[in-house]
Amino acid sequence: MDPLEALFSAAAAARENAYAPYSGFRVGAAVRSASGTIYVGTNVENAAYPVGTCAEAGAIAAMVVAGETHIVEILVIGEGEALVTPCGACRQRIRELARGTAAIHVAGPSGVRATFSLDSLLPEAFGPSRPHPGS
Ligand code: THU
Repeated sequence: MDPLEALFSAAAAARENAYAPYSGFRVGAAVRSASGTIYVGTNVENAAYPVGTCAEAGAIAAMVVAGETHIVEILVIGEGEALVTPCGACRQRIRELARGTAAIHVAGPSGVRATFSLDSLLPEAFGPSRPHPGS
C-alpha cells in the first residue's frame, strides 16, 4: 500500500473510536515515526470540557510510549467543509518532535485534502532547538 494511503487508513480507523459525545466532532490522527511505524490517536472528550484531548496528542503519546521521539509526518482526519488543521497546542506538540519540514496532511473521509509543512502552520516557533529561559 502507498505510504500515505496507509497513514490515511490508520487515522480513519482510529477516528471510528473517537469519544466525542459533547462536540460530536470525531477526529483521527496517525503519525509516521522515524522507524516507519504508524501510531494512531483519536479525540477523547470529557464532561469537564477543557480536559478533553485531541487526536494528535493521543498519537504522539503512543509514539513516545513505544520509545520513539521523531515524527516524520502526521495525518489528521475529520469531517466538514473546513479543513481540520491541528489546533495551536497540537502544532506545538508536533514541533517538539518534528522538523519544520515535516508534512502535516489534513484529510476528510474521502482522502487527503491539503498538505502543509509544520513551519507554515507554526512559523517562528518556540521549540526544542531554542534555548529555554533559565537554561
Ligand atoms: N480536535 C482534534 O482532536 N484535533 C484537531 O486537530 C482539531 C480538534 C478535537 C477536539 C475536540 O474533541 C473536537 O475535535 C472539537 O473541537
